[in-house]
Amino acid sequence: MGKSLRGKFITLEGAEGSGKSTQARMLCEYLEEQKKEVLHIREPGGVKISESIRDILLDVKNTAMSDECETLLYMAARAQLIEEVIVPELEKGKIVLCDRFLDSTVAYQGYGNGVDAKTIQAVGKFATRSISPDLTLLFDIDAKKGLARAGKNKDRIEQRSLAYHNRVRKGYLELTKQEPQRIKLIKVDKDKEEIFKIVKRHVDKLLHCNRNN
Ligand SMILES: Nc1ncnc2c1ncn2[C@@H]1O[C@H](COP(=O)(O)OP(=O)(O)OP(=O)(O)O)[C@@H](O)[C@H]1O
Ligand SMILES: [Mg+2]
Repeated sequence: MGKSLRGKFITLEGAEGSGKSTQARMLCEYLEEQKKEVLHIREPGGVKISESIRDILLDVKNTAMSDECETLLYMAARAQLIEEVIVPELEKGKIVLCDRFLDSTVAYQGYGNGVDAKTIQAVGKFATRSISPDLTLLFDIDAKKGLARAGKNKDRIEQRSLAYHNRVRKGYLELTKQEPQRIKLIKVDKDKEEIFKIVKRHVDKLLHCNRNN
């Protein structure tokens, strides 16, 4: 990450219903208790333009959307969020917690839809201005269990087959192998307090590292 970005960028990744938003809320509270300045945002979305793109992406009526269009819309939403929020907040020194980021596109559009991985990385670099998270928490859950937890009102992506969601899960696990320093795999087979203990351990380590630098 660039030198002027004093803050810390933490992303939460994983399948539908893996507990990303639950853990992000708990982490937000924990950091605020320590009087840290923290911002919690979600992808796709987080700012007006990106929320509009989100509506297009998740609308079940958009059955005609091509894989290329889907990939680029996720990237467009991300580019706007980076420009409008992530970079300015990191420059101010804030901790930015982002529910999903570029790894989601690698997993869902890459492994899930079969879009070329190199293309995703290249467009991803452009969209994010090469800004990569300092830490990524990856919540791993059995695809079927996750979908069941996510509920009945399924969006355009959640509606996809179990085979699709299994490919996404596999993609995430591959990513962890490629970048073990950044991506921390957390098995979602315990209650949320137990999982939060692990989350806290990773985040404390990251923020502590900062003080020693
Ligand atoms: N460790 C846990 N054990 C059991 N249920 C959990 C656990 N963590 C979260 N849940 C429940 O599972 C559901 C999905 O959790 P949550 O919304 O945090 O997942 P998510 O990853 O943000 O999902 P989505 O991708 O759909 O936004 C919620 O009803 C939540 O209360
Ligand atoms: Mg969520």
